[in-house]
Amino acid sequence: AELELEQKLRNVRVVPVLGLDGVEKADSLARALVEGGFFVIEVIFRPSAEDSLRLMSSTGAFVGAGTVLTAQQAASAVKAGAKFITTLGLNKEVADWCLDHAIPVIPGVASPSEVEQASRNGFTMLKFFPAEANGGPAGLKAVATPYPHLTFYPTGGVSEKNLQDYLSLSQVVAVGGTWIAPQDLIASENFELLSTLAHSTLQVVRG
Ligand code: 3PG
Repeated sequence: AELELEQKLRNVRVVPVLGLDGVEKADSLARALVEGGFFVIEVIFRPSAEDSLRLMSSTGAFVGAGTVLTAQQAASAVKAGAKFITTLGLNKEVADWCLDHAIPVIPGVASPSEVEQASRNGFTMLKFFPAEANGGPAGLKAVATPYPHLTFYPTGGVSEKNLQDYLSLSQVVAVGGTWIAPQDLIASENFELLSTLAHSTLQVVRG
């Protein structure tokens, strides 16, 4: 299951990370993103996230839940359709729950100690967070290079300006970020523009 997720991330290269306050726009937003070419979506787990996950999963997108803090949240997210889980820190409770239930998980790390602990526990794809604050592409390169058997999914401060620098690192499977779905376009329900902008980002990334 982890391999399937890794393959999808390698194909799509860029993942929209969505923090939604309500559910009313979840369906249109997911459709706009899928139309723009983003078939993997990460939804930040918040009080209404279960409903959003359910709606978004039904569009055919491969939807995961991010910033998951407890095993209970992981279970709720998966029940609502989440196909993978991410955490911001090296959250043993969540990671172990995912292992036990064969749900792909990308645990968060920021330092060699955390990378080694994650690796010892059998996790091979790690979320480098917060990427920009931890030295950006150069910081990730320094942390990742000694561990060639691991791959990384950086988020936190990734944008149009720096994504190519992350993606040029061979250990980076994909980048993620909230900038892909700007709050103002969601608020104004300008999903057509959102879709067009998102699509042009992917075209730049994929050449
Ligand atoms: C995440 O959950 O990965 C981060 O909140 C994304 O951070 P960003 O807003 O800087 O993209």
